[in-house]
Amino acid sequence: MLGTAELRRALGHYPTGVSVVTATGADGTPVGMVVGTFTSVSLDPPLVGFLPDRRSTSWPRIRAAGRFCVNVLAASQEEVCRDFADKRPGRFEAHGEPGPCGPRLAGAVLRVDCDVDRVLPAGDHELVLGRVRALEASPEAGEPMVFWRGRYAAPAV
Ligand SMILES: Cc1cc2nc3c(=O)[nH]c(=O)nc-3n(C[C@H](O)[C@H](O)[C@H](O)COP(=O)(O)O)c2cc1C
Repeated sequence: MLGTAELRRALGHYPTGVSVVTATGADGTPVGMVVGTFTSVSLDPPLVGFLPDRRSTSWPRIRAAGRFCVNVLAASQEEVCRDFADKRPGRFEAHGEPGPCGPRLAGAVLRVDCDVDRVLPAGDHELVLGRVRALEASPEAGEPMVFWRGRYAAPAV
């Protein structure tokens, strides 16, 4: 039987990007969660995905909003990442600007505005498919942040 610690350690050898999925709640309160599971899914129709933990308190609020913005972080944004991971007060005012699907974070390498298309069960996570409404890549933001073996890094280019 595979243990979760063993799985986490071994699968951490697979590098991921780091994104902040944001949304705006019905009462106007912004919500944001850090994910390493953002991925492109389909070109036609245009779909992307990410996998929130069933225990996440942010995900039900994002789901209720019905739309979200994926902000793919740049390698230089470790402080931004920690602000959101640690839920530091003032994080939206410091880094965010209003967007149609959720706050857009300045300095991100890519922002993807989505409608929630489908939510599928996936063990102790859920697989969220988002239908892409708009996207904005920012080459000037530089290299993307990479999470690998428990550390933040940048690709060697
Ligand atoms: C680099 C990194 C990647 C993460 N990836 C995910 C992820 O893909 N899915 C997820 O549910 N939580 C992920 N987390 C954990 C969440 O950011 C957060 O801890 C969790 O959602 C609990 O907060 P919440 O209750 O506000 O949702 C990740 C955290 C870090 C630092």
